[in-house]
Amino acid sequence: MNEPALTIRPLRDAAEARYCADFLVASDPWLTLGLTFEMAMQRLTDSTREIYVATVGGEIVGVLILFLDGALKGYLQTIAVHPDWRSRGLGARMIAFAEQRIFRVSQNVFLCVSSFNLEAQKFYARLGYQRVGELPDFVVAGFSEILMRKTRGPLRDFKPAA
Ligand SMILES: CC(C)(COP(=O)(O)OP(=O)(O)OC[C@H]1O[C@@H](n2cnc3c(N)ncnc32)[C@H](O)[C@@H]1OP(=O)(O)O)[C@@H](O)C(=O)NCCC(=O)NCCS
Repeated sequence: MNEPALTIRPLRDAAEARYCADFLVASDPWLTLGLTFEMAMQRLTDSTREIYVATVGGEIVGVLILFLDGALKGYLQTIAVHPDWRSRGLGARMIAFAEQRIFRVSQNVFLCVSSFNLEAQKFYARLGYQRVGELPDFVVAGFSEILMRKTRGPLRDFKPAA
């Protein structure tokens, strides 16, 4: 199947944030993790984050939230593809975009994946992410968040993008 033409650009406004919040809260892992619409909106309007939407023909098909500061610099906080658009290669292309952005400022891309989200764990492993830690009972009791990392090397070897 031909890959749809994908554009990734910054999220523009509250209406787009609401659209993304609606499909985030309707799917796992966020259902199990108890993410409410209000919590999703808070994340999607957080000015300390870089927030991007993926579009096909002008329609929003996915969202990415990146945090480029803090202790684990280069944190992919959220990736979601709209349920109607999953398993068509868009998620992998959104990850490639996030990596390009993050590796301009950091040697590492970090992310967390829920212990029950086996499909997403497979997806990240296939893209070269390694499990580096586990946070038991982190968001909800009974499940862990698994910390994964893709690295370019030690921090001291970092060369800022020209
Ligand atoms: C995980 C996700 C971003 C991948 O995007 P995508 O466009 O479906 O990914 P691709 O087409 O590039 O790769 C497909 C792989 O994604 C994974 N995947 C597919 N549907 C999924 C789902 N509902 N939940 C989690 N992972 C899924 C599978 O490993 C799939 O591989 P397969 O097609 O061989 O079964 C997307 O499926 C999604 O938004 N899932 C729900 C939210 C989620 O789990 N986000 C990650 C939180 S850490």
